[in-house]
Amino acid sequence: MALKSINPTTTKAWSKLQAHFKTIEHKHLKDLFAEHDNRAKNMTITWDDFYVDYSKHRISSETLALLIDLANEVDLKDAMSKYFGGDAINKTEGREVLHTALRNPETAKVTVDGNNVMPEIFEVKHKIKDFSNAVINGEVKSYTNKSFTDIVNIGIGGSDLGPAMVVDALAYYKNHLKTHFVSNVDGDHVNEVIKHLNPETTLFVIVSKTFTTQETLSNANTIREWFLKDAPRDAVSKHFVAVSTNIEKVKAFGIDENNVFPMWNWVGGRFSLWSAVGLSISLSVGFENFEGLLLGAHKMDEHFRTEDFDNNIPVITALLSVWYNNFFHAESEAVISYSQYLNQFATYLQQGIMESNGKTIDRNGDAITYQTGTIIWGEPGSNSQHAFFQLMHQGSKLIPAEFIGFASSLHGNQDHQDKLMSNFFAQTEALMNGKSKEAVIAELKSQKLSEEKIMELAPFKVFEGNKPTTTILIEKLTPESLGKLIALYEHKIFVQGIIWNIFSYDQFGVELGKQLANSILKELQEEKMVNEHDDSTKNLIAFYKNRD
Ligand code: F6P
Repeated sequence: MALKSINPTTTKAWSKLQAHFKTIEHKHLKDLFAEHDNRAKNMTITWDDFYVDYSKHRISSETLALLIDLANEVDLKDAMSKYFGGDAINKTEGREVLHTALRNPETAKVTVDGNNVMPEIFEVKHKIKDFSNAVINGEVKSYTNKSFTDIVNIGIGGSDLGPAMVVDALAYYKNHLKTHFVSNVDGDHVNEVIKHLNPETTLFVIVSKTFTTQETLSNANTIREWFLKDAPRDAVSKHFVAVSTNIEKVKAFGIDENNVFPMWNWVGGRFSLWSAVGLSISLSVGFENFEGLLLGAHKMDEHFRTEDFDNNIPVITALLSVWYNNFFHAESEAVISYSQYLNQFATYLQQGIMESNGKTIDRNGDAITYQTGTIIWGEPGSNSQHAFFQLMHQGSKLIPAEFIGFASSLHGNQDHQDKLMSNFFAQTEALMNGKSKEAVIAELKSQKLSEEKIMELAPFKVFEGNKPTTTILIEKLTPESLGKLIALYEHKIFVQGIIWNIFSYDQFGVELGKQLANSILKELQEEKMVNEHDDSTKNLIAFYKNRD
């Protein structure tokens, strides 16, 4: 069954939220805290090893109730049952959206076109397990009968960002295999990676759902040519494996059918790390840890599916984001992880969030009249404090932020951990409370400055505060907790897409540039004019072609 199409701005809750917004807009968080003793406790969700505090948001209990009314009026529950139940909710591509099935237990039943897909999911999982174990243990040998030392994941977008982020995030759990990622069609990327590699001991994993992506195929071809400089042609089958839905194209590339790890059309690229796209993860940290990741995601699926909206982490975080996006008109959101291991987390989320919800046509096919997808960005703390936090604290833009931290460190250096966490707690407190003019003046007085100097400097040192943040504090970074965290954002994306009445699972917006690049490539390489260009593009191409 199709998703319902309900314009959120026509709901009663939306009108009420608009009126209610006027009562909250100018309120300071400090006053909201002063109004209710139990605010922090009431606005915290504790679940498993997660402690999610959203009390530092510019909301009251009434805001929350109205946002939940909005979710009910757009029938989020109905949409959720279609999402988990395997309805073709990716209507524009005629597909189901079933990344959640990939982390289900084997006993679950999920049907696509009348067939239960769980047995084939587990067949591929067993293949991933056997292959990962054999490579890690050195049972699978190279063409010169050596054990593999290096893995290269060749893919782009969802076929790169998920595995790359997770391999980095789980570096603490890594085995001896060195994992590399080649994605950009910029030849300098592939060359920088292969220049350090020994072809005799390197395994290449080509990941492409379609197996038609220009970047991935160019990189795979370049790597195969480089490999064949030393190796005989039949060695390709020992060193190249592929993850794809397009088995014919994989075979045409020269990969042995036994070395193909299938995936399915009902898994979107940006939600695919749980499928065989995660092969590099399983090779890097072992299948057991890969399973831990899946288990964590499944636990979050169950939390999202069964918990009441007012205690539901993905629902609450999505509703808060809608509140700022559509009522405060905030344009972007920051995700700040206080863990160097999550270095690539914001980059990974950028594809998930912006490729999914960067849409302007609603589910009726009409142009929308309200804002949709937020711009997402971020870098780990404490580094980012020394980069862009100035703008978050004193800039003119409202930037709601999610702070993610882990209570226990992995390496056990308690002094570093205490310093990291003191920064983590201090920043959200500072963003909320700011610093008043009185406090600034008192501080300057204590430095024995002249009255004149104090008055001159004071305005620059005042922090308005009132900057909203969510704190997601997790016990420890493990494969399981990481799985929960990633799934939380997947469901947040889903909830937002439902409220904004858009289709979150297609990505037609990336096609135009790809098509134009293909025709311009012909003009660059074959000297033939394919398209008429505007003067600017024409001049740029001419400058490129006519350089010495
Ligand atoms: O950028 C568009 C896109 O289709 C992404 O959605 C996808 O993750 C990426 O390209 C790679 O596609 P494929 O896995 O088919 O090579």
